[in-house]
Amino acid sequence: MILVEELTKHFGPVRAVDGLSFAARPGEVTGFLGPNGAGKTTTLRMLLGLVAPTSGRALIDGERYADLDRPVARVGAALEATGFHPGRTARDHLRVVCRASGIAEDGVDEVLGLTGLADAAGRRVGGFSLGMRQRLALATAVLARPPVLILDEPANGLDPAGIHWLRGFLRHLADGGCTVLVSSHVLAEVEQTADHVVIVARGKVVRDAPLAELVGEADGLRVRTEHPAELAAELDRAGGAVHRDGDLLRVSGVDAAGVGRAALAAGAVLTELGAERSGLEKTFLELTMAELGGDP
Ligand SMILES: Nc1ncnc2c1ncn2[C@@H]1O[C@H](COP(=O)(O)OP(=O)(O)O)[C@@H](O)[C@H]1O
Ligand SMILES: [Mg+2]
Repeated sequence: MILVEELTKHFGPVRAVDGLSFAARPGEVTGFLGPNGAGKTTTLRMLLGLVAPTSGRALIDGERYADLDRPVARVGAALEATGFHPGRTARDHLRVVCRASGIAEDGVDEVLGLTGLADAAGRRVGGFSLGMRQRLALATAVLARPPVLILDEPANGLDPAGIHWLRGFLRHLADGGCTVLVSSHVLAEVEQTADHVVIVARGKVVRDAPLAELVGEADGLRVRTEHPAELAAELDRAGGAVHRDGDLLRVSGVDAAGVGRAALAAGAVLTELGAERSGLEKTFLELTMAELGGDP
């Protein structure tokens, strides 16, 4: 269990983290989402005792990281996939970590297999791609089979197949009872994995909710058609609320079958029919755009 309470960190005039509170629970993947500069890394570094909070608390199983007994066995972390000795092979890197941390070395090959590095185990890390380094960072994080995992942007540098793999990997760990906290600035990376989502912007929590709740906030359908005027009129007759934007209709009050029937009645050819963006996507896009100073 991870508990962050009223956590605050100022770097001079910059309020990197500003009264942040949330929890990440065992058996769940908690997505820690926010645009760049939102304060995610600083929060994770405070959880790991790498940065001292200005005020508030960051606790793992009720204790500060520095007070944990045998922290390597309690928390696995992957912050940035750097700092590997380039001349070492992946297997040697993990062995060195085992020796330095008092972890049995016999789990090294299994962890290499789990993270898809079995075939690269004997290659020097200096020649690894960013994606392979991310996998090695993950392998290092899970080496001691800790019940709590803290991962900072682990999908960075992974290709789509790697991101798909990462989702399954995190799901598997959470299903085994692990508390998984994973940050990202890309919604799609956590959208399909997280059980719970904490969205941050400018050091503050903006939303903290089960993923299902946020995704369930989708309202209405997007319909694109070659005959927008005819279809809009027919949908209106069917009792739907229609907002027209060129060939795109945003429709509520009518389900997909209703749109299909209206299209048939109006003789309208549909070129797209789907759900409107979920509440999660909307919230996240608005935040990201606000940070970039643009419009969603
Ligand atoms: N060591 C530091 N010194 C000064 N400012 C920092 C430091 N670390 C982070 N910041 C600032 O704190 C804010 C939050 O950064 P960070 O936690 O890295 O956000 P994120 O990981 O969400 O992108 C940013 O404005 C960043 O520039
Ligand atoms: Mg960061």
